[in-house]
Amino acid sequence: MTFVPTRQHFQEAAAAVRGFTTLQPQIALVLGSGLNPVAEQVEDAVSVPYADIPHFPVSTIPGHQGRLVIGRLEGHPVIVMQGRAHYYEGYSMQQVTMPIRVFRQLGVETLILTNAAGGLNKQFRTGDLMLLTDHINLVGMAGENPLRGPNDPTLGPRFLDMSKTYDRQLRELAMAVAAEQELPLHQGVYVGLAGPTFETPADVRFLRMIGGDAVGMSTVPEAIVARHGGMRVMGVSGISNVAIDVIDGQGEASHEEVLEAGALLAPRMTSLVRGVLASL
Ligand code: HPA
Repeated sequence: MTFVPTRQHFQEAAAAVRGFTTLQPQIALVLGSGLNPVAEQVEDAVSVPYADIPHFPVSTIPGHQGRLVIGRLEGHPVIVMQGRAHYYEGYSMQQVTMPIRVFRQLGVETLILTNAAGGLNKQFRTGDLMLLTDHINLVGMAGENPLRGPNDPTLGPRFLDMSKTYDRQLRELAMAVAAEQELPLHQGVYVGLAGPTFETPADVRFLRMIGGDAVGMSTVPEAIVARHGGMRVMGVSGISNVAIDVIDGQGEASHEEVLEAGALLAPRMTSLVRGVLASL
């Protein structure tokens, strides 16, 4: 039986985090592959390795640092996850989303999720940013939902509305900030898959057909749990590669390519996130 963390585990982890800082962040930021540099902007930063937080899942993936950075960004106390655990690493959906539960215990009300994603939309190029308007939870449709199992009503409702997942005000703010910064920002639908395999060309054509604009291996479970806990959520994908839709084509998808794109994406993501925080 895999480990299913409960409220008590979330509280123990939150108590451990409180031992490292007196700040009370109301905003949390999760950084995807290649986006670690965003955390370097945090002032008066305290770093907490995930391994020092009881029950916290530790990422095993290169490019995922595995620590919390707590400090100030644009005047707001923030908690930043440098790296996340993924379902494909063997963690349960409940483990993958545990950090979000811990942030809620700490008093976080706004969650900004970032990720590296493959571009499905034919307009998208490597280095582009996409604001999530919605997602398709393919893994959840197949049964692996982080809310599966007994519901703790002190954490959130048994049945959760998902028609307002990505907060409208935050989306409008992000679009306004991007326009002001002359930073191109697409809007679109993120498709969440389990990974760790990249998509076949037939997968890519299917995902496009069902309405996906970008595809990745994270974010969806975290967004669900954040909404379950009543948090406001914003999601941004950094397009790290263009998904390959023909067989026997020239390129190949690789994690190295995803990390390399981070050099292009991190400054843009930083600029957008800072802009949004500055207007909050
Ligand atoms: N597919 C799935 N996940 C990803 C991709 C991709 O092309 N790029 C970055 N994460």
